[in-house]
Amino acid sequence: MSVAQASPGIQSRYDRDDQATLLRALVRSNRPGRVQNDAEPVPVRVPMIAIASGKGGVGKTVTAVNVCAAIYRQGIRVVLIDADFGTANADVLCGISPTRRLDAMTQQRLSRICVRTPAGFGLVPGSVGMKHLAKGDVSQRAMVRHAAQELSAAADLIVIDTGAGIDETVVGLCLEADLTAVVATGDPTSIADAYALIKTITLRSRSRGDQPDLGVVINQTRSSREAHAVHHRLAAVSKRFLKHDLAMLGWISRDGKIAESVRQRSPLLAVRARRGGARDLARLSQTLLGRIGLLDQGGNRVGL
Ligand SMILES: Nc1ncnc2c1ncn2[C@@H]1O[C@H](COP(=O)(O)OP(=O)(O)OP(=O)(O)O)[C@@H](O)[C@H]1O
Ligand SMILES: [Mg+2]
Repeated sequence: MSVAQASPGIQSRYDRDDQATLLRALVRSNRPGRVQNDAEPVPVRVPMIAIASGKGGVGKTVTAVNVCAAIYRQGIRVVLIDADFGTANADVLCGISPTRRLDAMTQQRLSRICVRTPAGFGLVPGSVGMKHLAKGDVSQRAMVRHAAQELSAAADLIVIDTGAGIDETVVGLCLEADLTAVVATGDPTSIADAYALIKTITLRSRSRGDQPDLGVVINQTRSSREAHAVHHRLAAVSKRFLKHDLAMLGWISRDGKIAESVRQRSPLLAVRARRGGARDLARLSQTLLGRIGLLDQGGNRVGL
């Protein structure tokens, strides 16, 4: 599917763009950035949100794809980069079969790789079965950093779907992002692994003199009470051992419609957001936009 194949009926700035416009914008993104006080040009950089987890299979990709679908519906140009190197599958959840993937990025520009999903947002499909681009390749982080500049003319926001775990690739991508959403479930192993990731990001970030912006998303919950209890446990250990106030970004109900949307290969939020998991994902999207500074406290768009 090409960038031009917009989903009918969805209104957004993407709808006014044709493929040529988007590609021109991507090519133009080689331009020098803003000039500050006659000094060196500052490269324009798109804000980035990383979706990560300590434990695998907790719902990162479902969350990333649906958050992008919800954000796109608000007319915000969002591009999802599938950075689950080696086992990428965001394209599967989006219902597309890309011909080009991120593993070709060393030779090709993102403009050749980014495709429009049926839900409307842009997707940079990740690599599948490419061992040389799997864990530990530091150039992946440089790729994503480069992407944030290359996409500056064509996107308002980049969402990164990372792989699971606390290896260098995942942590590096989270450090590159402006906000990291750590997804966990109520499963004790998921909570333990989430803390391991939170700890690693926090300590690595501090070693660089930064304070990380990260928070948790509790997925597959049976109630908001359960979600808050999981957040409370993680926040308590973060406070005690890391002196870090861990934010609660949101929770997502366990919902058969989400599992069904995966089987249907179509994001739930491309169509509705009134109940259950869809409502939770829509609310989470608003929280993320507010936290990253694209919505003000009244829910109005900022700076677009
Ligand atoms: N809120 C939910 N309600 C019901 N099912 C869910 C929910 N979230 C995720 N799932 C189910 O969990 C499966 C795994 O989700 P997903 O692929 O997003 O996990 P992941 O964290 O990206 O996995 P990986 O670590 O392998 O990348 C989905 O296919 C879906 O069936
Ligand atoms: Mg995934």
